[in-house]
Amino acid sequence: ASLREFLRCLPKCEHHMHLEGALSPQLLFELAAKNNTTLPQDDAAFKSPEALLERYRRFTSLDDFLHYYYIGMSVLITHSDFEALAWDYFRHAKADGVAHAELFFDPQAHTARGVGYSTAVAGFDAACKRAEKELGITSILTTCFLRHLPVEDSLAAFDAEDVQESYVSGVVKGIGLDSSENGYAPEGFKELFAKARHQGLNLTTHAGEEGPVSYIASALDNLRVRRIDHGIKLVYDEHLMKRIASENIMLTVCPLSNVVLRCVNTIKDVPIRKLLNAGVKFSINSDDPAYFRGYILDNYLAVQDAFGLSVEEWEGIVRAGINGSWCGEDRKTILL
Ligand code: HPA
Ligand code: ZN
Repeated sequence: ASLREFLRCLPKCEHHMHLEGALSPQLLFELAAKNNTTLPQDDAAFKSPEALLERYRRFTSLDDFLHYYYIGMSVLITHSDFEALAWDYFRHAKADGVAHAELFFDPQAHTARGVGYSTAVAGFDAACKRAEKELGITSILTTCFLRHLPVEDSLAAFDAEDVQESYVSGVVKGIGLDSSENGYAPEGFKELFAKARHQGLNLTTHAGEEGPVSYIASALDNLRVRRIDHGIKLVYDEHLMKRIASENIMLTVCPLSNVVLRCVNTIKDVPIRKLLNAGVKFSINSDDPAYFRGYILDNYLAVQDAFGLSVEEWEGIVRAGINGSWCGEDRKTILL
């Protein structure tokens, strides 16, 4: 119990959490009822929140998860739906001792359904502001672009007037890439990332989750990111691992996600010890907590259970997370 309390009280920063991935089966069914959303009739998993949760225990791959993830978000329609979703996350974050959260969302997945970007952002932003005021949690919103769609789609989404307005106003502060990985190499998105970099946005991308380690190198060289989401395949390239350590690139590792999506067999196979030994900076994150049955503290506890880290090692991980955050120096000083 005291170990849990120690981990809970650490000033944790979360850098890899998809807001749409915080949609619990409970809230999914509530919003579906409110919005008259038609859920798939031919999939028994959608009979009840309990059946859906049970189906979430049997994901076979990233794409098998994404199938449910994209259906799930079809219940998000109004400003208040997005706000309720983000608020549900922040309540869990508070209970788990999160100090600062950098949150992904998928604009293209909403606009493709006819839900306005501004509706999603305004709902999320309202929850972020409330979380800072009422819970003391600071946060940053990041637009993730869907790599399984044509590159032209992401460029058009990035250039859209309301999206640009959210960057200029500072309501959204970064971009990333997510969705299916294999076959969608980072270099295809070079132009998108160059544009975002010239606008001064923060840059990150999913790489080396299910896809090959070469995608991590490509993300550094072609997209010029200074952060990699997941990146667990890094340990297959000794030379690249040294480079990432010396260039102070941070990985946002998601242990429970890796097990549930079968990128690794068990938590022990998440390369926590190898990254520590190589001096690679990383944070520990929940990814899609409502789908992977664990928020950030569950991920910390799973890592502790598998690796038995020392107090000093935990403090080092948390410090790296603060230093690797996109918040201002003043906020970092408070957290350190
Ligand atoms: N990987 C890729 N795309 C995603 C994920 C993930 O873990 N979560 C939500 N979209
Ligand atoms: Zn992710």
